[in-house]
Amino acid sequence: MNNFVSMKTIKANEIIKLLEQTDAFANGQSFDLSSRKKRFIANLFYEPSTRTKMSFEVAEKKLGLEVLDFHAERSSVLKGESVYDTAKTFASIGAEALVIRHPINNQVQQLAEALDLPVINAGDGAGEHPTQSLLDLYTMYQEFGAIKGLNVLIVGDILHSRVARSNAYALKALGANVYLAAKPEWKDQSLDFPYVDLDQAIEQCDVVMLLRIQLERHQQSKDIKASAYLTQYGLTVKREQRMKKEAIIMHPAPINRGVEIDDKLVECQRSRIFKQMENGVYARMAVIHQLLNKGESRHGNDYQTMFAYAH
Ligand code: NCD
Repeated sequence: MNNFVSMKTIKANEIIKLLEQTDAFANGQSFDLSSRKKRFIANLFYEPSTRTKMSFEVAEKKLGLEVLDFHAERSSVLKGESVYDTAKTFASIGAEALVIRHPINNQVQQLAEALDLPVINAGDGAGEHPTQSLLDLYTMYQEFGAIKGLNVLIVGDILHSRVARSNAYALKALGANVYLAAKPEWKDQSLDFPYVDLDQAIEQCDVVMLLRIQLERHQQSKDIKASAYLTQYGLTVKREQRMKKEAIIMHPAPINRGVEIDDKLVECQRSRIFKQMENGVYARMAVIHQLLNKGESRHGNDYQTMFAYAH
């Protein structure tokens, strides 16, 4: 693995390897990538972010890396510098890997092909968000002990969601059953997964994954009535009561409380929303470790790998 840009193209065994390493970090393994010399990584975010950016930064610092923080709105981007030239600049001054979020679909993948250092996709437009997917898979694994055979219902703004896309590809690769539910105009027909009726599917799924409405990516009709959306397509208390006893609720956040999910459910016993955020640090550590651990010495406890994800 030279880059981490897409869950569509990565092989299932690579995902499993990353999940094993995520589990090792979640169970307290430590690792210092900079034990002999200072090593730098740069976070290039061209779109707003709280969780993804901060959890990458925590992950990088836990691995002993020096973090080069970049603010597009205070950089030479304002002088017209391209994302490619910005990325080359960070590589030239010593960054060994780049974490990139960009509003244009496929931009990060193109950069990864053009550059000769590891690139991690932190979200490209309505394209993919593979580290979000990795942390989501790990959260499901923690809950159920396996991914294969799980029934996962992804609900909401599928068409504009990079989270839905990466998760659908990765879950399929690991043998889960993926079902989608969306307003007709938010269905992405290029995704080869069945669309189902939310009220029928709610009783059968193990995971209900809600998506934020991606207003910033909508061409028209920004006028969505919160309470009407919640009643028709959101997770209401009534729907939650019909979920299977052990089923869990997920959401990548930021959450629109009272729109995609009833406010009362955000921190309910079934919700794993804040657990997902915690796991984001371990998942991102695993990805960076995989890309940058070429011959550095290991510190901390040894970890016995596990292998049950796909079985
Ligand atoms: C998601 C994103 O930015 O794609 N958030 C995140 O990374 N946790 C989902 C979203 O913004 O709706």
